[in-house]
Amino acid sequence: MSCIVEMKDISFSAQNRRLVRSLSFHFEEGKTTALIGPSGSGKSTVLKLAAGLVTPNEGEVLFRGRNIARMGRQENLMFRREAAVVFQDSALWENQNLFQTLELPLRVHFPAMSKAERERRIESVVTEVGYKKDLGIRPALLSMGEQKLLAFARAMMCRPQLLYLDEWTESLDQGAAQRLVNMVKNLKNRGASVIFVSHDIQIIRDLADIVVMILEGQIFLRLTKEQIDGDDDLGRYIEKGMAT
Ligand SMILES: Nc1ncnc2c1ncn2[C@@H]1O[C@H](COP(=O)(O)OP(=O)(O)O)[C@@H](O)[C@H]1O
Ligand SMILES: [Mg+2]
Repeated sequence: MSCIVEMKDISFSAQNRRLVRSLSFHFEEGKTTALIGPSGSGKSTVLKLAAGLVTPNEGEVLFRGRNIARMGRQENLMFRREAAVVFQDSALWENQNLFQTLELPLRVHFPAMSKAERERRIESVVTEVGYKKDLGIRPALLSMGEQKLLAFARAMMCRPQLLYLDEWTESLDQGAAQRLVNMVKNLKNRGASVIFVSHDIQIIRDLADIVVMILEGQIFLRLTKEQIDGDDDLGRYIEKGMAT
């Protein structure tokens, strides 16, 4: 089994608090890994560390064997083209309209792409996520759910091979959440690796090959889909473990 992202003995502190302790984990290529645990347990922090967006105080994060923190500009750009992140708070650009927000990753990673091609790509992704309103507005005018849709659409623009999703179906109605789940499945069928945080047991059961429970910044439990599916008690245990 090949490994796409490896976290090696990671510790991370912020404001004199140790948020992650001696954490080591292999994320397998082509697999979907769910990070679960109660609020404040460190899921978002682990996801950001795994995405190289936060640099650990100790240890290293490797993408296909290369330390993300040590990548040069060009290598980092290649990594960023392959990997996309949906942040828990969506993190859309306040001062750009939605079209500009979706266009930016294409401009950065595919500078030779024509304007017409960019417009086609944006149109097709926006339709797929089910966003029907104007793209000329800024994110402040969107509901939380719509912001999630747009953040997800932005992550899809460059057809990522590695996807980091933090509470990505929160504030979405069931139909919209299902559309995004289907998009993740399609991406997965094309060989993508996915690391996601969710509190939705249905989505975890539907998507995750591996479930990792995080408690107090450490990995408390690692289970495979086969283990969970074959054991109702374990399913209930997981649901309990996600509560605060
Ligand atoms: N930059 C930071 N500085 C200080 N504390 C932080 C910072 N980021 C997160 N925390 C704290 O770390 C803990 C874990 O946060 P987080 O990873 O967001 O948890 P989760 O996503 O599981 O809810 C929380 O107690 C949070 O307040
Ligand atoms: Mg979080």
